[in-house]
Order: sequence, then C-alpha cells, then structure tokens
Amino acid sequence: MPKVVVVTGASAGIGRATVRLLAERGAQIGLLARGQAGLEAAAAEVRAAGGEALPIPTDVADFDSVERAAQQVEERFGPIDAWINVAFTSLFAPFTAIEPDEYRRVTEVTYLGYVHGTMAALNRMRPRDTGVIVQVGSALGCRAIPLQSAYCGAKHAINGFTESVRTELMHEHSNVRVTVVQMPAVNTPQFSWVRSRMKNHPQPVPPIYQPEVAARGVLYALDHPRRKHYWVGASTVGTIVAQRLVPGLLDRYLARTGFDSQQTDQPTSAERPANLWAPLDGPDGKDFGAHGVFDDRSHPHSAQSWAARHVGTLVSGAALVGAVAAAGLGRRRLDGKSR
Ligand SMILES: NC(=O)c1ccc[n+]([C@@H]2O[C@H](COP(=O)([O-])OP(=O)(O)OC[C@H]3O[C@@H](n4cnc5c(N)ncnc54)[C@H](OP(=O)(O)O)[C@@H]3O)[C@@H](O)[C@H]2O)c1
Repeated sequence: MPKVVVVTGASAGIGRATVRLLAERGAQIGLLARGQAGLEAAAAEVRAAGGEALPIPTDVADFDSVERAAQQVEERFGPIDAWINVAFTSLFAPFTAIEPDEYRRVTEVTYLGYVHGTMAALNRMRPRDTGVIVQVGSALGCRAIPLQSAYCGAKHAINGFTESVRTELMHEHSNVRVTVVQMPAVNTPQFSWVRSRMKNHPQPVPPIYQPEVAARGVLYALDHPRRKHYWVGASTVGTIVAQRLVPGLLDRYLARTGFDSQQTDQPTSAERPANLWAPLDGPDGKDFGAHGVFDDRSHPHSAQSWAARHVGTLVSGAALVGAVAAAGLGRRRLDGKSR
C-alpha cells in the first residue's frame, strides 16, 4: 500500500474525496492546489482521519513549482510512492467563443499539469524502479462533446502521452506503473467555478455520481496499477463502447442533445467568477469541499464499479456456485442410478 502520496487538485472535488480515503489508511499526503482555504481544510481533514498532510500551494501549469513541491514532499515524508494527477480547469463555451489565451490556459493546466506531475514523479520513481502514477481521466477523453473542446482536447492528450510513457517504461522493464481511470459525470464544485459562457448553470451530463464513487475507483487503480485503463460507472462504459462502435451516430446524437444536457434550467451570469487564472477560495475565502450542488441528483454507488473492483470475488463466487450445482447434479444422477 503506497504510504507517501502526492495528489494534485487535492483541495476540491474528486481530489479531495481521494485524499479523504488515503487519510483513512494513514497515508502521508502532499496536497497540491492553489487556494489556501481549500488546501488548509483538506489538510485538517487528513490529520483528523489519522493521516499526515503537507499542503503546498502550487499551480500545476508551472513545472518548476510542481518540481519544488515534489522536493518538499520528499524532504518531509521521504520517497514518493504514488502520484495522483487530478487538477484541472475547463471552459464551458462553443469553440468559436473561446479566446486563444483561454484555450492555452486550459491546456496548460489540464494537459501540461498532468505532464508536469508525471515528470516530477518519474524523475524520482525511475531511478528507484518503484512507484505508481494514476491519471484521473474522463470518458470525455475518449469521446468529445460540444461546449468543452479545450477540456476534451486536453483529456484526449492525457491518454496519448500516458500511452507513450507506459510503453517506454515497459521497454526498459521498469517496475514503475502508470494507469488512467476514466471517470463518469461527478458532482463536484467544477460546475460552479469553471468559466462558462452558457446561458444556464452548467451541469454534468447525467447520470451523475458522487465524488466518493470516483475516489474509490482511484484507490483501486492505485492498488492494482498494472491495467492500462479503468472505467468508472456504467455511463463511462456505455460512452466508450458506443464511441468504438458508432462514433458518427454519437456525433449526431450529441449535436442534438449535448447543449441542453450540460445545462440546468437556472440562468447564470456569463460574468460569474471563475477559477481559470486564479483560485476562487483565496486566503479569507470559502472551502468548496468535495461535493458540488447536485447532491440530490447524484448516485452514491456504482454497481458497475463495484463489480469491476470485485471481479475476482464474483468470478470465484460464480465458479463456486457452478461447482456446487455440478456436484448436486452429479449426486442426483448417482442417486438415480443406484435406485
Ligand atoms: N466532475 C466531473 O464530472 C468529472 C468527470 C470526468 C473526469 N473528471 C476529472 O476529475 C478531475 C477532477 O475534477 P473535479 O470535477 O473534481 O474538479 P474541481 O471540483 O473543479 O476541482 C479541481 C481541483 O483542481 C485544482 N486546480 C484548478 N486549477 C489548478 C491549477 N492551475 N493548479 C493546481 N491546482 C488547480 C482546484 O483547486 P484550486 O482552484 O484551489 O487550485 C481543485 O482542487 C479532473 O481531472 C477532471 O477531468 C471530472
């Protein structure tokens, strides 16, 4: 079980929920994000749950800051066993309504942030020939949707560069593992603080899962990092499989439904504050926590994820049932013959 873990985007949403589960295992956690209030609140939760926390205000778009943070974590806790890339930002708008600098910023945080985290982790893990990197991905990294071109591009890019890195590690027979966990729609603060040019309040495309479902998927991948990809939630499986089978049909479906399905019916200001360039909580500000505003519409469990995590138990259970049934059948036949 990894003891020293770095989590980027640790102050909110999926990162925050993941940090809580790690803390329950007594992990020593480097918490990376920008906002002080969220980081301090996450650190307090970790300590209360029995873990150790080192909150480090970091903008993942800046490689030097990420590298310095990795150094600080090792000085405090020792060698980093695992690195979990979660931090991201986005922009909800049609491609033609996005400015070049906004596009660049989303890419620098959401794509290059993962590249930087992976570099800082590998700089330390490769020479030691041990360690795990988990990339928190998205179904939208396999199937793009309207109004999120910058985000979808970055998420696709994460799959691409991670695949290259994985093959390079395999080529050198490294024991360092890297895996991607593709997520479904999750009820996190992003829909309240990501920059939006949509008329109504953004929402994740239903079905929506609670961040704890995502966090359990992250921890499972952390403990079983040999697989290339994990899929969390039936909607992720459905999206990726449909994209493989009928991508053109999905284009037409999303063109028709993808604008409405990403908005509630509540109007919102195009000028609402956003976390694109700077954190929204600030030193005297608000801790946004793990959950977004869709608690009443979000599933706390995913049967698909549970089954995927317990596939060994399910297979052996099915084998056991089969064996018992076969034994019963055999006995009935023998009984029949001996009568
Ligand atoms: N929620 C979903 O529906 C969903 C679906 C599929 C995949 N995912 C993936 O899950 C991950 C987390 O999403 P989420 O919804 O939990 O996000 P979120 O609620 O918006 O939280 C984002 C986290 O990243 C941090 N962050 C933002 N910009 C940063 C920067 N420049 N440098 C460092 N940290 C930064 C934020 O803190 P500060 O602002 O304080 O820095 C916060 O801790 C993302 O990789 C996303 O692609 C989410």
